[in-house]
Amino acid sequence: MSGLMDQSPAQAIPQHVAIIMDGNGRWAASRGLPRVVGHREGAKAVRRSIEAAIGQGVKYLTLFAFSSENWQRPADEVSDLRGLLLQYLRSELKEMHEAGVRLKVIGEHSRFGPNIVAELGAAEAKTANNARLTLVLALSYGGRADILAAAKRAIEEGVPAEALTEHKFASLLATAGIPDPDLVIRTSGEQRLSNFLLWQAAYAELVFLDVLWPDFNEQDFAGAVKTFGARVRRFGARPE
Ligand code: IPE
Ligand code: IPE
Ligand code: MG
Repeated sequence: MSGLMDQSPAQAIPQHVAIIMDGNGRWAASRGLPRVVGHREGAKAVRRSIEAAIGQGVKYLTLFAFSSENWQRPADEVSDLRGLLLQYLRSELKEMHEAGVRLKVIGEHSRFGPNIVAELGAAEAKTANNARLTLVLALSYGGRADILAAAKRAIEEGVPAEALTEHKFASLLATAGIPDPDLVIRTSGEQRLSNFLLWQAAYAELVFLDVLWPDFNEQDFAGAVKTFGARVRRFGARPE
């Protein structure tokens, strides 16, 4: 029997999902493997999450790949991450482009050196007109640094105090032109933002998953989207 009764309510799909990809080190340690193996497996989860985002009809996916605080890690781990980033870009760019993914980098990624800047710049240029999914890669990103840089830009531009609205300020952030995240997912069981998108995530729904990032898959993504769909967003107002 079919009819109105059988139809489930329209599922709210977040326009922008942001993910704090955490737990690579613990994934490796639990197997007695070096951390770099966890990061390498984590790269496969990046691919799965891009596919899942496209499959769910999400328009913006932001991935926290390296924080401004991650520079405090040992040089060999930073170097491994840098190498994996280049490797990922070289092996995945063509397919991402064909799938309609537009790449956008935020953060002080120039700290990774001129090769990274050149390759990421070329990837951004190549994919600039794609419209299926915008993939925002947060690399050497920190929310406080982002806000501070925006404040400095406002001063440099000579923005009068009365013209510095929230809308104007947002246009000075690294995420200018990108809608705020609706859903922030963090894997690995940690329940904190770790300096991710502090301004932008003001009203994001937060979902913390116990899965370690290298194990993250399409089902986990779909589950988080479902959890999001069941949340009631009030934005401080009082609905009927
Ligand atoms: C996330 O995994 C990757 C980065 C932060 C670069 P971690 O490396 O933080 O893994 P854990 O948290 O130590 O398990
Ligand atoms: C947050 O993870 C940064 C990224 C996932 C890139 P961390 O592992 O660096 O965060 P903390 O140190 O546990 O807060
Ligand atoms: Mg971690």
